[in-house]
Amino acid sequence: MSKILIVYSSVHGQTRKISAYLEDKLIAAGNSVTAMNITDKVDLAEFDKIIIGGSIRHGKHSAAVYDFIEANQTVLEQKPSSFFSVSLVARKPLKNTADTNPYMRAFFEKSPWKPQLAEVFGGNLNYPSYGSMDRNIIRFIMWITKGPTAADTNIEYTDWNKVDTYAESVNQLVV
Ligand SMILES: Cc1cc2nc3c(=O)[nH]c(=O)nc-3n(C[C@H](O)[C@H](O)[C@H](O)COP(=O)(O)O)c2cc1C
Repeated sequence: MSKILIVYSSVHGQTRKISAYLEDKLIAAGNSVTAMNITDKVDLAEFDKIIIGGSIRHGKHSAAVYDFIEANQTVLEQKPSSFFSVSLVARKPLKNTADTNPYMRAFFEKSPWKPQLAEVFGGNLNYPSYGSMDRNIIRFIMWITKGPTAADTNIEYTDWNKVDTYAESVNQLVV
């Protein structure tokens, strides 16, 4: 049994939802798991494994992800750890691995912390929940990338079987 911390940076809730799902899977596998917002206060020293999850907005992971890494780099490097990234680009078969996803590659270039395990998941596309400016920008990007553009679109691209496999990989990280 390991004590696992999952911290997430989520604007519309999909990364939080994936974190909650991971939490359930890892508890079912016999671990003690805490999932929390990346801006909440926490002492990483109390945990055996650390997972960070972050979503993409306008081509970037949030500054909160990098702030958290900078503030906790020493402890992060001492423990088995993982990072997962959530985006719409990750719905594309040629961009759905840590090696082929451009946001994950950018993450590894920018972050001083290099987790042992990294994964990418497709996110949620929910036009009705966006403000008009964001909706128009994302519809335009979807039009260019041959995705859905109907204004009432609400699609979850997260592959939950892939999240299951990821939970298994986290479980197997050796403490
Ligand atoms: C304003 C906005 C900008 C986004 N920009 C991108 C982007 O540049 N690339 C991408 O692949 N997905 C982009 N997305 C899609 C999000 O990554 C996706 O909806 C994800 O599920 C959001 O996760 P969250 O709900 O945890 O924040 C954007 C979504 C929104 C609302």
